[in-house]
Amino acid sequence: MKQRMQRSGWGAWICATSALLFASGPVGAQATVKIGVIAEFSGPFADYGSQILAGMKTYLQLNGDVFGGKKIELVVKDTTGAAPDIAKRLAQESVTRDNVDILAGFGLTPNAMAVAPVATEAKKPMVIMNAATSIITTRSPYIVRVSHTLPQDTQPMAQWAWKNGIKRVFTLVSDYGPGQDAEAAFIKAFKAAGGEIVDSVRTPLANPDFAPFIQRVKDAKPEAVFVFLPPGSQTIAFIKGYEERGLKEVGIKIIATGDLTDDGVLQAMGDGTLGIVTSFHYSAAHDSPENKTFLKAYTETNGTRLRPNFMACAGYDGMAAIAEALKKTQGSTDPDKLLSAFKGMKLMSPRGPIMIDPETRDIVQTVYIRRVEKLNGILYNVEFDKFPEVHDPGK
Ligand code: PHB
Repeated sequence: MKQRMQRSGWGAWICATSALLFASGPVGAQATVKIGVIAEFSGPFADYGSQILAGMKTYLQLNGDVFGGKKIELVVKDTTGAAPDIAKRLAQESVTRDNVDILAGFGLTPNAMAVAPVATEAKKPMVIMNAATSIITTRSPYIVRVSHTLPQDTQPMAQWAWKNGIKRVFTLVSDYGPGQDAEAAFIKAFKAAGGEIVDSVRTPLANPDFAPFIQRVKDAKPEAVFVFLPPGSQTIAFIKGYEERGLKEVGIKIIATGDLTDDGVLQAMGDGTLGIVTSFHYSAAHDSPENKTFLKAYTETNGTRLRPNFMACAGYDGMAAIAEALKKTQGSTDPDKLLSAFKGMKLMSPRGPIMIDPETRDIVQTVYIRRVEKLNGILYNVEFDKFPEVHDPGK
């Protein structure tokens, strides 16, 4: 695998050392398939891109980098954050200047949404490795999603909460696509089950101050607060505020999608997370041979700075889907041939069985209910219940 990294705006190509590690023959000796990896590699969401790329590299480490007779080359570009204009420009550069065959990555919804028309215009398959607002896949016929959608992860949480005696819930979500989707899906499913929504608030995506919102939750005295926040500094700040304002002491539980207790951030969030129940499609504690292989190879490939999370898993699966599609097309990068190879594809992921719905090009997967516990002194999301073959309920 060859890999090039371009910092946004500077046009300076930096050959990553991993290119040397992965290169297995004279460069140019073999036909290549270029994948333009566009994601967040700096700024507050820098771990999103790092996790996605680390997951992709893990797949290549385990499976080699030649599929259908073509060698994989990654051309990596940094959106620097939630920056739709930059993401769009980088995608245009990728297709016109770098001649990439496939676009991939996309941690954040605004970046994926901005690139969708570029994929359509250039007829390039676009593999979404995180961005989880339901509508994204409808924005281009060339989009395939291997990650998750917020309604898909949320609906099981609402149903589980009701069954387990929670009757009155306050919702708190980040005020952009995935948060709005999570709020709507939770309210719909929880009310359908018979539950009551006490109140709902949305927090800004940029620099939110959670204190007033957390106080509002406390004052409303719900049995639980349902939360969606993008993982990182925001989820850490939320848990800190929840602890400081004594919501646990007055009996207000947290329920959430697993974005809140992201494996990559969980340890930094500390013991305040113990006992939190979430619904999600991937846990580093998932007990399967595929996950054991993934975890070991991830650490060997990328070092120990990051613990693999759901974005790493989707990067791995996205790379697997591209590899399988190339095998099927015998190395052809014809976009329509690749798309038909993706449609209906089934893979055994580190998270369990997954499928690309042939109609919607969105992922179908098991959603697990998990509780934060300590295993050998380290915080993990331990799965204890599951909902198999969940589609995005919005479609
Ligand atoms: C998104 O922007 O779509 C997004 C970001 C982080 C998540 C989930 C979705 O954990």
